[in-house]
Amino acid sequence: MVRPELRICRDAEELAGRAAEIIAAAARNSIAERGRFTLVLSGGSTPQKTYSLLGTGDIGTAIDWRSTFLFLGDERFVSVDDPASNFGMARRSLIDHVAVPPSNVFPMPTDGPDAADGARRYGETIGRFFHVATDSLPPPCFDLVQLGLGDDGHTASLFPGNPSLSVTDRWVTASPPGRLPPSLDRITMTFPILNRARLVLFLVTGEKKAAIVREILEGQPAVEKYPAAGIRLTEGKVTWLLDEAAARLLTSRA
Ligand code: 6PG
Repeated sequence: MVRPELRICRDAEELAGRAAEIIAAAARNSIAERGRFTLVLSGGSTPQKTYSLLGTGDIGTAIDWRSTFLFLGDERFVSVDDPASNFGMARRSLIDHVAVPPSNVFPMPTDGPDAADGARRYGETIGRFFHVATDSLPPPCFDLVQLGLGDDGHTASLFPGNPSLSVTDRWVTASPPGRLPPSLDRITMTFPILNRARLVLFLVTGEKKAAIVREILEGQPAVEKYPAAGIRLTEGKVTWLLDEAAARLLTSRA
């Protein structure tokens, strides 16, 4: 398993700037090496500052958005105009401000009957994009998967004790809501495809996350308990960007 790299920032502001720089550097390298950059965005509140910096700050102007392809790692089963929509947040903070062609943007479908339908269709979208059979193994590799950490240890919409944790034969699955609000059905990428990323970038801020951060980075918690512990890459790189508050219980900062 790849050992995670840890970077500690003074506060959420600094973290957003560092995250935007990491994303811009990954875009440059991916486009230089493979001609395109595939980026998986998360929901939650932490990445909004980073997305805004990419959308309206100088750092975003350095990205070749025409060669950038945007996906979502998870979504709440609501319309894109709903304030709870992850895609809606990404659109308002980032997508609306940059020259990414609409055909390069892949929201998770929430216009069908249920989250299971959306999950199935998103798996097909990913298969078509990478020109491979849907759900084939090993899954395709995204260049950068950005993730968050919930107060209960979830990541993407992989919640503690949820059946989505043990899905190994699909890239995307439906998930019932976790215990934390908002209580909405979800669509989420699964461990097999998340763990194929070339780079996983966790963005975590705030004191409330400190104990879980320590347990995940310094202990060996069960994935059932803290699903973020299931992000275990065998190749590639995992970077945890933490602010001081989230890092405060770590005994080792190496
Ligand atoms: C979601 C997410 C989720 C998020 C974490 C952290 O849809 O809610 O994608 O996995 O990343 O809950 O959220 P915060 O950044 O708000 O703490």
